[in-house]
Amino acid sequence: MSDLFEKIVSLSKRRGFIFQSSEIYGGLSATYDYGPLGVELKRNVTQRWWNSMVYQHQNISGLDAAILMHPTTWKASGHVDAFNDPLIDDKTSKMRYRADQLIEGHIDRLRRKGKDEEADRVYQGLVDALNAEDSAKALYDVIMSEEIRSPDSGMFDWTEVRHFNLMFDTTIGPVSNPDNKIYLRPETAQGIFVNFHNVRETGRHQVPFGIAQIGKAFRNEIVARQFIFRMREFEQMEMQYFVQPGTQMEAFEQWREERMNWHLSNGIRASKLRWHEHEKLAHYADAAQDIQYEFPIGWQEVEGIHSRTDFDLKAHQEHSGKKMEYFDPRSNEKYIPYVVETSVGLDRTVLTLLCEAYREEEVGGDTRTLMKFHPKLAPITVGILPLVKKDGMPELAHKIEDRLKDQMNTFYDEKGAVGRRYRRMDEIGTPYCVTVDGESVEEGTVTVRERDTMQQERIPVDNLLGYLVERIADWKVS
Ligand code: GAP
Repeated sequence: MSDLFEKIVSLSKRRGFIFQSSEIYGGLSATYDYGPLGVELKRNVTQRWWNSMVYQHQNISGLDAAILMHPTTWKASGHVDAFNDPLIDDKTSKMRYRADQLIEGHIDRLRRKGKDEEADRVYQGLVDALNAEDSAKALYDVIMSEEIRSPDSGMFDWTEVRHFNLMFDTTIGPVSNPDNKIYLRPETAQGIFVNFHNVRETGRHQVPFGIAQIGKAFRNEIVARQFIFRMREFEQMEMQYFVQPGTQMEAFEQWREERMNWHLSNGIRASKLRWHEHEKLAHYADAAQDIQYEFPIGWQEVEGIHSRTDFDLKAHQEHSGKKMEYFDPRSNEKYIPYVVETSVGLDRTVLTLLCEAYREEEVGGDTRTLMKFHPKLAPITVGILPLVKKDGMPELAHKIEDRLKDQMNTFYDEKGAVGRRYRRMDEIGTPYCVTVDGESVEEGTVTVRERDTMQQERIPVDNLLGYLVERIADWKVS
């Protein structure tokens, strides 16, 4: 793990953003709990996503489908047969890797050494292997021919590549037998597909229209060593946009643009985001691109935009016997709609924000650690700090808190030197602090300190709410 990544993980725990799940029992790997600040950050992200998808588009409705679904769902979707990772074991260290990621790592190393031609050749080998009939054997052959060594032990002592299904299963009802086997959903999308007609009819939608959903998904990830980047229980924010066949590429481009703009609007610097085209299309897709962020662990996917054709609706029609067709009154034809999907990980968005926000600055010979969250995403928007615990200052500070807290998340802190309190607020990413001093009590003015510039301004208490709202709206990434 990189130094920077370790610092972010450590701050997340120390300040109450994210904890290892079941820590007192030694932890459960690749599962995490969100603490008091993490949960606020996460809620702000979901609110922004919901607002941008559902409230900003009249033709998109929300849904909250059950995690447990009829098991045939996963047969129809292809997950039972094809939701696999190609795995390979280092016989010496007993560490397990994803074969495609091992090859990708090798390609990255070649590029870093300036061996672009060789990297291009191996990349082509990877693409061919992923698309091969027997992809496990083809990936194994690439690892052998390129003599790719184990990242941990440095050995070249591999098992064969095997496919491993990522779905968690359990049984429903009191009797545990194979007929009662069901799955924890590995994506939220299928809950949307099976409700296609329910939402279309009750929402009185005509194609094109969308269904948006936020919810938990579960994958028995084998290589899960990167904090909340790859979890076994995580949350997705997905939207399926149903379109007339033949118009899917137009919708694909529209959603590509909208989704990239959403990440930028969260205060992510444009230089840290890029597009990545899939080397191998999933079994359901005719186009797929990812939005990647440059994490301290390298460029990695945050969101996928997929053109899923009519694969899912058609498969559910076949397996359920229920018609998934739509009669289009505009074109007078019946068809199964095509689907463009936007699928972003909530936890991965949170990780993006933590990585993007984390900064260290030299101030007067000291290191100031700050989280430069967008003020609309910051867990706490305003810290309210009476200079001392007497002379009417706490009373006025509480009054100010009461006035602000309907509009923004506030935190009252009267403990310790004010400089220390500012640093604490910086470290959890609070964009504004309001300090109440003797002058505040006498003249009705307070000091507002900005996290990013550390500049302070004196403001009449009566103008404070308007002032903060304006500053938040004007905030720019730096
Ligand atoms: N319905 C399409 C779908 O699920 P995906 O690319 O497998 O597509 C979409 O997942 C997003 O979900 C990813 O871009 C990522 O942000 C998030 N995601 C997937 N697996 C994850 C995991 N194990 N841990 C955390 N987030 C994950």
